[in-house]
Amino acid sequence: MLSKEQVLDIRKDFKYLDIKENLVYFDNAATTQKPLQVVDSLKDYYEKENGNPHRGAHYLAIKATDAYEESRDKVAKFINATSNEVVFLRNATEALNLVAYSWALNNLTENDEILISILEHHSNLVTWQFVARKTGAKLKYLYLDDNMQITDEEFENKLTSNTKLLAITAASNVVGTMPNVKEFIKKAKAKNKDVVTVIDAAQFAPHHKVDVKDLDCDFLVFSGHKMLSAMGIGVLYGKEEMLNSIDPFLYGGDMIEYVYEDKSTFLDSPARFEAGTQNVGGAKSLAAAIDYIEKIGIDNIYEYESALTAYAYEKMEKLSYIDIYTTKNEHRSPVLAFNFKEAHPHDVASILDNYGIAVRSGHHCAQPLHRNLGINFSCRASFAFYNTFEEIDYFIEHLEDVRRLMGIES
Ligand code: ALA
Repeated sequence: MLSKEQVLDIRKDFKYLDIKENLVYFDNAATTQKPLQVVDSLKDYYEKENGNPHRGAHYLAIKATDAYEESRDKVAKFINATSNEVVFLRNATEALNLVAYSWALNNLTENDEILISILEHHSNLVTWQFVARKTGAKLKYLYLDDNMQITDEEFENKLTSNTKLLAITAASNVVGTMPNVKEFIKKAKAKNKDVVTVIDAAQFAPHHKVDVKDLDCDFLVFSGHKMLSAMGIGVLYGKEEMLNSIDPFLYGGDMIEYVYEDKSTFLDSPARFEAGTQNVGGAKSLAAAIDYIEKIGIDNIYEYESALTAYAYEKMEKLSYIDIYTTKNEHRSPVLAFNFKEAHPHDVASILDNYGIAVRSGHHCAQPLHRNLGINFSCRASFAFYNTFEEIDYFIEHLEDVRRLMGIES
């Protein structure tokens, strides 16, 4: 596991820690902070390599093209894909919408079923509601057991030979559940060889090794900003054959082969899906983020963040005035959703903010999940490898102050 010294060294790369004393950032599932190396990669790009990629024969256009395509190669290697299978988009949400518009709307009919889970973030839920409404396909949900897991039995009960799309998160942004998506994909393909599988890895890729070949998914999406990069860059992985068989999502420059007055032909993936001027700086910052993660080791990150989560869970479990909504299963993403029995999450988050502690409060873009848990909203502390056990102690200590300041009697 990462030692205390290693973590203290890592923290020197994160300048937000210099803003003020005791700034405890526990909103990493919303977006992570950025290390110096990532910020520098953006600065370097805009200072020394800025040009419009794929469009020019001059020095800076070539530098930009190289920066962009080298970043794609790095992302491909990171998830065990080939470079043509990596499409750069704005974020995971845009990637899911691409699958919805380019594949689902053209392939689903009223005889088909879309299988998602109640864990889903709105981006992997509202999108499929829209597709179901447009195509007549039936939207079905996988529900949770008492430990917030999707059991094999639940999966097998909901899966039918009509399941044409399985779209599921690899890690919940609220309750931390990491479903066994590899097994689910295998079962879905055994039931219907034409099923298309989509993995939302937005909350998984920052913490755990992703291997798209091993998963055998058709599509997988994630966002850069949740794993140290700049905002505005995300990834759609798709099997090459699949990507080249579907329609483009956005039309315009740099995605065409030939354009005539009355028709056009289109390039293969990834250019097929990257109309308009691309976000080269963002892609470069994602490559720098991957370098940073790989220097520490994604397995070391997972192990350390799991230890932080277990430590916080154990401490919080002892507080009788708090309800926890995170799975007890220690294979989970580093999030801890909770509520004070007698205080609104926004009040809790505001009071904690007075002590410099950042937690998220609200429905975390997962309203159906909250409703399913019998609540409307929650607070959420989410950890990253640059957080410390001491920060968790500080956070736990100040939970008592919330009660005191709100005048809640012991
Ligand atoms: N999806 C992000 C979160 O969980 C914004 O906070």
